[in-house]
Amino acid sequence: MTNADLEKIVETSDQWILERTGIRERRICDDSITCADMATEAARNAMAMANCAPEDVDMVIDATVTADYTLPSNGCLIQEKLGLVNAVGFDVVAACSGFINGLTISRGFIESGMYKKIVVVGSEKLSAFTNWNDRSTCVLFGDAAGAVVVEPSTNGSGILSTFMKSDGRMREWLWSKVGGTKHPHTPDFAWDGTDKIYMSGSDVFKVAVKEMGRACLKAIADAGVKPEDVSLVVPHQANMRIIESLIKRLNISPDKVMINIEKYGNTSSASVPLALDEANRSGRIKPGDLVLMVAFGGGMIWGSALVRW
Ligand SMILES: CC(C)(COP(=O)(O)OP(=O)(O)OC[C@H]1O[C@@H](n2cnc3c(N)ncnc32)[C@H](O)[C@@H]1OP(=O)(O)O)[C@@H](O)C(=O)NCCC(=O)NCCS
Repeated sequence: MTNADLEKIVETSDQWILERTGIRERRICDDSITCADMATEAARNAMAMANCAPEDVDMVIDATVTADYTLPSNGCLIQEKLGLVNAVGFDVVAACSGFINGLTISRGFIESGMYKKIVVVGSEKLSAFTNWNDRSTCVLFGDAAGAVVVEPSTNGSGILSTFMKSDGRMREWLWSKVGGTKHPHTPDFAWDGTDKIYMSGSDVFKVAVKEMGRACLKAIADAGVKPEDVSLVVPHQANMRIIESLIKRLNISPDKVMINIEKYGNTSSASVPLALDEANRSGRIKPGDLVLMVAFGGGMIWGSALVRW
C-alpha cells in the first residue's frame, strides 16, 4: 500500500507522510493470510538458513500483539505447522520491543544450557488492528514477520549483552483500550476506534528517542565494548526522524545504521528481524561484526541486544 493509496482513504499526502515519517509504502496482507502464517514462513526460512531440522528445535517464541487467537498462542500454531515435535511454543507480548524480549529469553535458556535450539520470531498483522479512519496512525503501520535461530556457539559469536525495561505509567500513550477482559466488546459497543491502535505520537516520540539512546549505551557498556566498535545498528523502524535523532545522540555515522522503513513502515515486533535479515542478505554484516539491535513500543517498553555475528 503506497502513500498515494492512503490519500484515497484519509486526508493526507505523500509529502506529509514522507517528511514526517520516512515511509513510502507498507505491506498489507490479504484476509487469507494470518499473522501465524507469516510467522511460520519466517521461521521456516530462518531454520533453512541455519540448517536446523524441525525435530532439533527445543523452543519457538513468537513476539506478537496480533496473534491469530487469544488462545492458543501463535507459538503453538508455528510449532504444529512446521512439525517442531520436540519443542514448546509460546508468545511474548511486548509490542514493538517483543523481538528483543524474545531474543533475551532465548539467551537465558541457551546460556543456562537448558535448550540448544530456539527459534525467535517477530510477527504482526497490524493492518487488522489499525484504525483506518485515523490519519495520525494508519499511515504508519505494516504487516510483516522475521525470525532467527539461536544456538550455542564456541567461537565467541552470539548474544553479548541484552537490556530490557518498561514503564507502565505511560501505557495510555500507545494502546488499544477495548477488546480485552477489562473493556470487552459488548453487543452495544458503538464503534469509535477504541478497539484499534491509539497513539499519542509526540509523547511516544520523545520517550522513544531518549530511551532507545540509553538502551544502546547500556548494551554497549555491559558488553565491555566502545560505541565506535559497533559495525551496524539495527533499530526498530518506527519513524525516520526517531532514527535520525538516535544517530545524533549516539554520534554514529548514518552508514552504520540499517534503515528500511521506507518500504515497510512500522511493523512492530517484526521490524528488527526484518531489517536484520535485509542487512544480512545484502552483505552488510560480516562474521565478527558487532550488531546492535534496539527497539521501543507500547507499554511503554524498550530494550537492546548486542550481538557478535
Ligand atoms: C505520528 C507522528 C508521525 C506525527 O508527527 P508529528 O510531527 O508529531 O505530527 P503531530 O501529531 O504533531 O501533527 C501535526 C499535524 O499533522 C496532522 N496530521 C497527523 N497525521 C497526518 C497525516 N497522516 N497526514 C496529514 N496530516 C496529518 C495533525 O492533525 C496535526 O495537524 P494540526 O496541527 O492541524 O492539529 C509522530 O509523532 C511520530 O512518529 N511519533 C512516534 C510514533 C512511533 O514511533 N510510534 C511507534 C512506537 S513503537
